[in-house]
Amino acid sequence: MKILITTNPGLEDICSRELESIGIKLLYFQEGRVEGEWKGDLEELVWSLERSKTVHKAFVLFYEGSLENVRLDWVREFLTPYHTFAVRAERIGEGLPSPELASKIGEKVINIIKETYGKAPKVNLDHPSLVIYSEQRFGKVRVGLLITGEESLHRRYYRIREHMASLKPSIAYSLLYLGGAMDANRIVDPMCGSGTIAIEAVLGFAPPEVYCFDINKKYVMDAITNAKVARVKEMITFGVHDATQLHEVVDNIDLIVTNPPYGIRMGSPKKVLKLYEKFFESSFKALRGGGKLVMITPLTEAKLLAQRAGLVLVHERDVYHGDLWTKVFIFQRP
Ligand SMILES: C[S@@+](CC[C@H](N)C(=O)[O-])C[C@H]1O[C@@H](n2cnc3c(N)ncnc32)[C@H](O)[C@@H]1O
Repeated sequence: MKILITTNPGLEDICSRELESIGIKLLYFQEGRVEGEWKGDLEELVWSLERSKTVHKAFVLFYEGSLENVRLDWVREFLTPYHTFAVRAERIGEGLPSPELASKIGEKVINIIKETYGKAPKVNLDHPSLVIYSEQRFGKVRVGLLITGEESLHRRYYRIREHMASLKPSIAYSLLYLGGAMDANRIVDPMCGSGTIAIEAVLGFAPPEVYCFDINKKYVMDAITNAKVARVKEMITFGVHDATQLHEVVDNIDLIVTNPPYGIRMGSPKKVLKLYEKFFESSFKALRGGGKLVMITPLTEAKLLAQRAGLVLVHERDVYHGDLWTKVFIFQRP
């Protein structure tokens, strides 16, 4: 069966690797979407996807073709008159407006179930038991089922304390993956906010040592609370420290992964760049030779500042985060 997955734009390749690792054959990825082929059991697929780190939503696609010839007989397998359903529609490019597409597909679904059972299913747009997905992309219609629930899987259960500038856990996991967390012994997030990166490090890679620091005590307390909920508090060392003095607290670090302030909606980029400058100098001292620093920021000046501190840029990409395109930089201490 054909599977459509949504993920964070800019990190489709990381998501694709994760999907391949659970047995999905990769067909295509672009613009926050990954498509693949699954040959096994649907329940087994849902089980694996719900435990994935980078998937946001997943759909099984049962029909691709024209709207006139749309075939929906497969819905009989999933819907009865005793279930409620909703059709969520999307249009990309030319075609019917989404509400019209949703109502056309919905009507057809009702007719099929009525023909089969003599009774129509009810539509419930707020809390449906089944969500039918339909999209029209450049004239072609695709219809399928949402199989991972309406809430995006990037919303992790443990984030009971939310930082006002928190990072999506799916991005946090991907940054760790890109930095080589699977081979790192000592991982640090020196500007940890609510602790997302440190918690994802333990849950996703189980390194021997993880450090989670922030200059603001309240955020460190929030990170501790979230780590307790995630049941990983004992695996993380927490502390109130200034990232510009990181080398005074830890050394010989394999991997620093961090999401520093941007100074865009609050503060100022100028002040933040001063912080970056000092932070890079301290990181250089705290990293072991060959150690890496992964950073997500929209401030492209970070590249030059890191290089000035002696770090070498080894990877760069664009990632969509918090309604803006940001850069992910990976620097290495030679
Ligand atoms: C964008 S937030 C991090 C959010 C975090 N990734 C999360 O998911 O909750 C940036 C954090 O950097 C911290 N910070 C700012 N200046 C710092 C400094 N000099 N040393 C350590 N932390 C600092 C702020 O207190 C803030 O919590």
